[in-house]
Amino acid sequence: MPEREIIVTEDGSHTLFVPELGETYHSTHGAVQESKHVFIRTGLEYLVNFHAADQARIFEVGFGTGLNALLSAQYAQNHQISIRYTTIETFPLEREEWSGLNYPEIVGERNAHEIFQKIHEAPWEHPHEILPVFMLTKIRDRAQDYETPEKFDICYFDAFAPSKQPEMWDMKILQKIHGLLENGGIFVTYSARGQLKRDLVSLGFEVEKLSGPPGKNEMVRAVRKS
Ligand SMILES: C[S@@+](CC[C@H](N)C(=O)[O-])C[C@H]1O[C@@H](n2cnc3c(N)ncnc32)[C@H](O)[C@@H]1O
Repeated sequence: MPEREIIVTEDGSHTLFVPELGETYHSTHGAVQESKHVFIRTGLEYLVNFHAADQARIFEVGFGTGLNALLSAQYAQNHQISIRYTTIETFPLEREEWSGLNYPEIVGERNAHEIFQKIHEAPWEHPHEILPVFMLTKIRDRAQDYETPEKFDICYFDAFAPSKQPEMWDMKILQKIHGLLENGGIFVTYSARGQLKRDLVSLGFEVEKLSGPPGKNEMVRAVRKS
């Protein structure tokens, strides 16, 4: 297991720092701010508003701290959208790590503690009901090796930065994500690297460069067109 330390980001929310990689799990400008902006508003809310969706199948690359899962569960609860959330992770956190994270306090909703705990205590490899509107499946595997006949409406692509983990951003993995998405499915990520945009276009995505969360100019949303 890699060594990980909890640090506080600029919006007061925690993230994890991995000394071996010299990398954090989220933006140091604000972990909760970043997740809300990139994945919830630009991904999930876009799907719900523009496709008039009342359900969403989400595939997340990098479960990590469970922050995106928590925010998505809250979104499902507040908007009565039915979500099936599948997330993949190679190095799950230990209880001592996730139980020290302050996300439930920061997002500040009535049952956030309970949801966060249920998300982390859910068994791996099997669908598990966190809320009647939020079904979670946590997969312990490498995203590169994952095979499923299921299709998804959104991919939250939340791997470590291309400079730290380049193999997570290569064509092979992007091809896999393309295959997991429905036509019209949405790929969102915090990176706006030129090579990523070119690769997504060559795979048949329509790519938008959008403003990033505080501290970051741009991010990418791509919609599968073929
Ligand atoms: C940027 S962090 C995750 C952020 C996470 N979504 C969160 O909110 O905490 C990247 C995550 O990807 C995981 N990871 C690294 N390599 C992976 C792989 N090959 N397949 C799946 N997950 C991987 C890391 O262990 C880490 O938890």
